[in-house]
Amino acid sequence: MNQGVFHIPVMVDEVIRYLITKEDGIYIDGTIGGGGHSEEILKRTKCKVIGFDIDPEAIKFAQERLKPFGERVIILRRNYAQVKEALAELGVSKVSGFLLDLGVSSFQLDYGGGFSFRFDEKLDMRMDRASDLTAERILNEFSEEDIALIIRFFGEERRAKLIAREIVRYRQRKKIERTSELVKLIDKVVPRKYRLKTLARVFQALRIAVNKELDNLKVALDSSVDILEKGGRIVVISYHSLEDRIVKSFFKSNEKIRNLTKKPVAPKEEEIRLNPRSRSAKLRAGEKITE
Ligand SMILES: C[S@@+](CC[C@H](N)C(=O)[O-])C[C@H]1O[C@@H](n2cnc3c(N)ncnc32)[C@H](O)[C@@H]1O
Repeated sequence: MNQGVFHIPVMVDEVIRYLITKEDGIYIDGTIGGGGHSEEILKRTKCKVIGFDIDPEAIKFAQERLKPFGERVIILRRNYAQVKEALAELGVSKVSGFLLDLGVSSFQLDYGGGFSFRFDEKLDMRMDRASDLTAERILNEFSEEDIALIIRFFGEERRAKLIAREIVRYRQRKKIERTSELVKLIDKVVPRKYRLKTLARVFQALRIAVNKELDNLKVALDSSVDILEKGGRIVVISYHSLEDRIVKSFFKSNEKIRNLTKKPVAPKEEEIRLNPRSRSAKLRAGEKITE
């Protein structure tokens, strides 16, 4: 596989600028993905990286890419929400930085996971194939009310009730198995001019629910306070407003963390031109100021 194709890392210079405080520190890459951010961190410093991912394909790819750095890298197949437990198992008490680059990698988006409404695939959406909750199960087994809540809250979609009703009507005749079926039934109830936004919101909502993304983020932010040394940094790149709101309010409300980014940092025009998927990225950073 071509190294560049797996995923292009977003705002690399900004990540390094906010994350790195110690040349020889230990840094956590909670979402190692294709290893793009980790590779730059390892190249530009003498530090060690402990990487996490729940997707075995990402881990395989990152392991291969980061081989040249030998023992300076450890990659774990773990949820970043378990960062505290994982570090305790490794005998590491404090780290200098914790990076989270949320969401899916380009590889996941483009290859068979059912994350995108642009491809006809099975409605899976699990980043962690060991988990048993899929988008198909939500759509076929959850109540109409619960489906509407998921679409309303995780997708911030106004027509959630209408869409949930159509989902339930459809599944009474046939199990919903493929992304194309979900697209068709949404097309039936949503005006054409709102089509793309609605599809994006419904797919986002299902992905967040399947992967418990907001819960994991909250646990990881709380854990950062325990695992960071004084002066250590947490850097989060988020891609939608629900995530960004959680990060913003955590930085504002936690008295042990100083907010380093009053406004979120966005990619430069040039980066967006070269990598359109970076368009919605927002980076926030905080520093642990007291034990
Ligand atoms: C946007 S990509 C990260 C890309 C990476 N920064 C790079 O430069 O290649 C997000 C990655 O986080 C992983 N991920 C999502 N939720 C996770 C979780 N709760 N724990 C660990 N990894 C997770 C996904 O599988 C995906 O590989």
